[in-house]
Amino acid sequence: MRMKIQTVLVSVDSSSALRGARQFKKHIEENVKKYQLSDMVEVLETGSLGVYKDGVIVAVYPEEVFYEINSTDDAEQLVTEHFLKGRIVKDLMIDKSVIKHEKKETGKLDREERIVLKNVGVIDPGAIEEYIARDGYMALAKVLKEMKPENVIDVVKKSNIRGRGGAGFPTGMKWEFTAKADNPEKYVICNADEGEPGTFKDRLIMEGDPHSVVEAMTIAAYAVGANKGYIYIRGEYYGSIDNIRKAIKDAYEIGLLGEDIMGSGFSFDLSVRLGAGAYICGEETALIESIEGRPGRPRLKPPYPPVEGLYGKPTVVNNVETFSNIPWIINNGPEAFKALGTEGSSGTKVFTLVGNIINRGLVEVPMGTSIFDLIYKYGGGIPNGKKLKIVQTGGTAGTFMNTKKLEIGLDYDSAKEGASLGSGVILCMDEDSCAVDCAKTVMEFFAHESCGKCTPCREGTRVSVKLLDKISKGQGREEEVEQLLMIADVMEQTSFCGLGQSAAIPLRTIVQSFRDEFSDHVQKKPCNACTFVEPKKKKRSKR
Ligand SMILES: Cc1cc2nc3c(=O)[nH]c(=O)nc-3n(C[C@H](O)[C@H](O)[C@H](O)COP(=O)(O)O)c2cc1C
Ligand code: SF4
Repeated sequence: MRMKIQTVLVSVDSSSALRGARQFKKHIEENVKKYQLSDMVEVLETGSLGVYKDGVIVAVYPEEVFYEINSTDDAEQLVTEHFLKGRIVKDLMIDKSVIKHEKKETGKLDREERIVLKNVGVIDPGAIEEYIARDGYMALAKVLKEMKPENVIDVVKKSNIRGRGGAGFPTGMKWEFTAKADNPEKYVICNADEGEPGTFKDRLIMEGDPHSVVEAMTIAAYAVGANKGYIYIRGEYYGSIDNIRKAIKDAYEIGLLGEDIMGSGFSFDLSVRLGAGAYICGEETALIESIEGRPGRPRLKPPYPPVEGLYGKPTVVNNVETFSNIPWIINNGPEAFKALGTEGSSGTKVFTLVGNIINRGLVEVPMGTSIFDLIYKYGGGIPNGKKLKIVQTGGTAGTFMNTKKLEIGLDYDSAKEGASLGSGVILCMDEDSCAVDCAKTVMEFFAHESCGKCTPCREGTRVSVKLLDKISKGQGREEEVEQLLMIADVMEQTSFCGLGQSAAIPLRTIVQSFRDEFSDHVQKKPCNACTFVEPKKKKRSKR
C-alpha cells in the first residue's frame, strides 16, 4: 500500500463545528474519493488552529498551507486545485504568519515554544496513540517509575508555576499543603468551569488536547497521595465533555488510569462532573459544594481546600491550563520552564484575544508579553481602520484601561501597574464603544451571577447597575459617578467571596480610566456610541 503523502487537518473545535467543520470535512473526504486521491491524501480532525475567521480553518501538510473554507464549493476547490492539480488556492489561503505568529521578513517564530497548546491543532484529540506519539504519558511514566511523590512536588515548586485560574497561587505549594495534610483520603479536582465571559482557553485545551489534563491530574494525584479525581466541566462545553470522557475511557483501556497504573502499585480513578453554567461555581469552594450535590455557594475560607476540601478531605483544585503545563515541566525540567517568562511569573500564558481585534482566538506567549504586542503583533490590530478605545485585561473581573498603558507586560505583578493577568483575556473595543454602556453590561453580568449570600455583593452589583443605567441615559448626577467608586470600595473590602471582591475591579477601573466620558454623560454630551440621546420625535404626516 502506498503511504499517504498529504494530510488535511480540519479544525473541529466546537466553534468551528458551528461553522460547519464536520460537513466540510465530509465534503473534502468525498471529493478526495471522487478524484481517486484516497491513497495520497488523508483527512483528519484536530483541535483549534488558534485563530478564528468567518469560515473553518484547515491546514495542509507537508506544505503547511492554511485555508479558510466557507462552503462546500470551497471544499471541492481545495481538492481539485491543491491535491489534483498541485496548485495553491490563493482565493482560500490565509496568511501563514497569522496562524504561526511568524515575522513576515524572517519567517522565524516570534513566540517561544508552545507548552500548553503544543498539541492543539496538531493531533487528533480522539486518538490516544497520537498523544503518545508526541511524548504523551512519558511524564507520568517517569514520575511513577523514577520519582518519589516529594520529588514531583519539588520539581513543580522549583518551576515556580502559579495557578492559571486567576488567583496565581503557587502550584507546588498547594500540592505540598495537600500532601502534608494528615488524612489518608485526598482528592484532585480540575476546575474546568470557565464561566468568565470571553474566556475560552480551557475549552480549546480540553477539546484539542484532553490527555494532557488526564496525564497531569494523575501526576498530581500521585504527588499528593490521592486516589480519586474529578474534572468539573461547564455543562455547555459539549465538545470538551465528549473529548475528556473519551480520553478517560481510552486511558482506562490501556492501563493509564484505574488500578496499578503501569504496574507501579499506584491507583487513580478519574471522572467528569458537570456544572450548570453558574459563574460562582468556578470559585473553588462553591465548585466543591456543587460536586457534593449542594447549590454552588462559596464556603468560608480558611480552611482552604488543601486542608479541608471535597467531603472535608484535603483537595488540590487546579485550573485546566495549570494542569496542562505539568507534563512539560516534568519532561523538560523546572529550569527550562523558569527560563520562559519573568522572574515572578515563569512559563507561558495562553491569552484569549476577543472583541474588536483582527485575529480573534488564542495565542500562547511568554509571561510578561506586553498588551501592545498582544493586540497589534499577535492580534493584528483593530479591524476596519478604527481606533482602539477601551481595553480590558484579565477577563470580566479584570482591569479596564484606555490606550495609555499598552506597554505594560502582563504577568502576576502587572496588576500593580494597572493591568491584571486574571484568566488571560484581552478584550478590545474600538472608538464606537461607550465606556458607560460597557460598565453597565459588565455590572449586569455580576448582578446576575451574584449568589445573593452577602449584602455588599448582592446590593452593590444591583445598585451600580441602576446608577449606570441612569448615567447611560443622560439622567445621572456627578455625585452618582463618585458613588460608583464608593460602592466598588465597599464590595472589594467586605464581600464574602472573590466574586463580589473582584466585581469592584472593572467598576473602579472603567470609571477612573474614562472619568471624562462619565461626566460628559452626566452633562448630556453624547459620545460616539451613545444610547442616551432622545430619539427625535417623528413628524406627523399630513393627511
Ligand atoms: C467567582 C469566581 C469564579 C472563578 N472561576 C474559575 C474558573 O472558571 N476556572 C478556574 O480555574 N478558576 C476559577 N476561579 C478561581 C478558583 O477559585 C481557584 O482559585 C482556581 O481554580 C485554582 O486553580 P489554579 O491555582 O490552578 O489557578 C474563580 C474564582 C472566583 C472567585
Ligand atoms: S460575594 Fe457574596 S453574594 Fe457575591 S457571590 Fe460571593 S458569597 Fe455570593
